[in-house]
Amino acid sequence: MCYQYMAMKFARFKHLFWMKTSLRRFFGIKLPRILLYFTFVSTVMFLASLILLSTRTVKSTHRHLEARNRKVFTKESALQNENGLDKGNFCQKHRRYVYVKTHKTGSTTVSSVLNSHNDKDTIKMPRKRCVPFSGGYPGRYNFEFAQQGDFDVVDGHFRYNPEEFRRHMPPDTKYITIIREPWSNFQSCYNYYKPDTRVSQGQCSKSPMNYVTNGEYVALEDFVVLANEVLDPSISWYFRFKNYQAHDLGLDPMMTDDVIINREILKLDEKLDLVMIMEYMEESLILLKNELCMNWEDISKPGRNAREYEKVYLSTEAQNAFYQLDNVDIALYKYFNETLWKKVDEYGRTKMAQDVITLRSKMKTQDVLLKEPRSEPKFGRENYRPTTKQELTQRLACYDTQASKLADYMMQNSGGCYEPT
Ligand SMILES: *[C@@H]1O[C@H](CO)[C@@H](O)[C@H](O)[C@H]1NC(C)=O
Repeated sequence: MCYQYMAMKFARFKHLFWMKTSLRRFFGIKLPRILLYFTFVSTVMFLASLILLSTRTVKSTHRHLEARNRKVFTKESALQNENGLDKGNFCQKHRRYVYVKTHKTGSTTVSSVLNSHNDKDTIKMPRKRCVPFSGGYPGRYNFEFAQQGDFDVVDGHFRYNPEEFRRHMPPDTKYITIIREPWSNFQSCYNYYKPDTRVSQGQCSKSPMNYVTNGEYVALEDFVVLANEVLDPSISWYFRFKNYQAHDLGLDPMMTDDVIINREILKLDEKLDLVMIMEYMEESLILLKNELCMNWEDISKPGRNAREYEKVYLSTEAQNAFYQLDNVDIALYKYFNETLWKKVDEYGRTKMAQDVITLRSKMKTQDVLLKEPRSEPKFGRENYRPTTKQELTQRLACYDTQASKLADYMMQNSGGCYEPT
C-alpha cells in the first residue's frame, strides 16, 4: 500500500486538499486519492518539461546567432584578406560618424573617402538647405537650423558643438576631423580670398580680406601684420584669418591665455575619436580605416590633396605677428600632431610602415593628382551679397519661419555679410 501512503502524505498539502474539497463542493465529484495524486504529478511534470524546452530554445537561438556573427566576420575577414591585410584581425564596419570638415585642410579628400565607405542605400544624412554651411555656421552647430530627422552621418562645413551632437546623435557615433599645419593653412586662405580671384567677387567672400586690405592688393608678409592688428569678432568672418581651424572645431579664436587654451584643447580631445593631420595624410587614412573598419578601396580613391607650399621666409616682425594671430591653431596642431603619433605607436610602427607601402601602391594605380581643394564657400556668388540683416534674412528664406532667427544667430557669430562702418 505504498502509493496509498504517499497519496495520504500528498493529500496533506494544502492545495491537494483544496483541490479535493473544491471539486467536491462544485461538481459533487468525489475523486479517489490516487487520481488526485496522478493529476498533481502530471501537472508538475508538464510544467517541468515546459521550462526545460524554453531554456533549450533560448540556448539554441543564442548558438544560432553566434554562428551567424561568425559567418559575418568570416565574410569581412575574407574581404580583407582579399585586399591583403589583417589576416585574422576582424573588425565590424562602423557606419555612424560625424565629420567636421574644416576649411582649407585637405578635408575634401577625406570627405570623398568617407563617402565611398557609406552604404549608399541605407545611409541617412541631412541634406543641405540653402547655404553651403549647415547648422547655423559660423555659429556653433545647432540642430534647429539643420534638416530634422535621425541621421547616421553628418559631414560638412559646420562649427563643431560636441554637446549638441551628443544630445542628438546615438552614443556609438564616432567623431572625426582633419587639421593642417597652420602656416600652410593661412597661405591657402590668403591665396583663396585675395582680390581678383573668382571667389572674391561676392561681398561675403571678401570678408574679412577686404576689410584688412581696403580692397587693395597687400603682399602676404604685410597682410599677416595688418590682420594681426585689426581682426576681431566685430569684423564679419574674421576667423578666416584668425585661428580658422580652432574656430571650426568650436573653440574661441580670441583666446590668449595659454593655460586656458591648453585646457580647451584637452577638453576637445576627449570629444573627438580621430584628428587626422594633412601633412601625414597616409598615416591618417590608415588610422581612419582602422577606426571605422574600412576597405583598402575606400581609402585609396584618388583625392584632392592640398598643395604643399614652398617655404616663405618671413621677417621677424611678420613671424611674431603670425604667432600671435594664429596662436590657438599653432597650439592645436602641436597637440594633435603628438596624439596622431601616439596613435601610430599604438597601431604599431612596423605595421604602419607596411600599410603605408600598401596604400601607396594602391594609390599609384589610381593616378592621384596633387591640387588645391575645390573652391568651397559659394557665399561669394553674385546672387549673394546681403549687406543688411533684412537681405540676409531674404537669402535664408528657404528656412521659412526660422530665417530671421538664423540670420540673428549667424550675425551674432560674426557671420553677417556686410562691411562694418
Ligand atoms: C609631428 O610630430 C612628429 C613626431 O613627434 C615630429 O617628428 C614632426 O616633426 C611633427 N610634425 C610637424 C609638422 O610638426
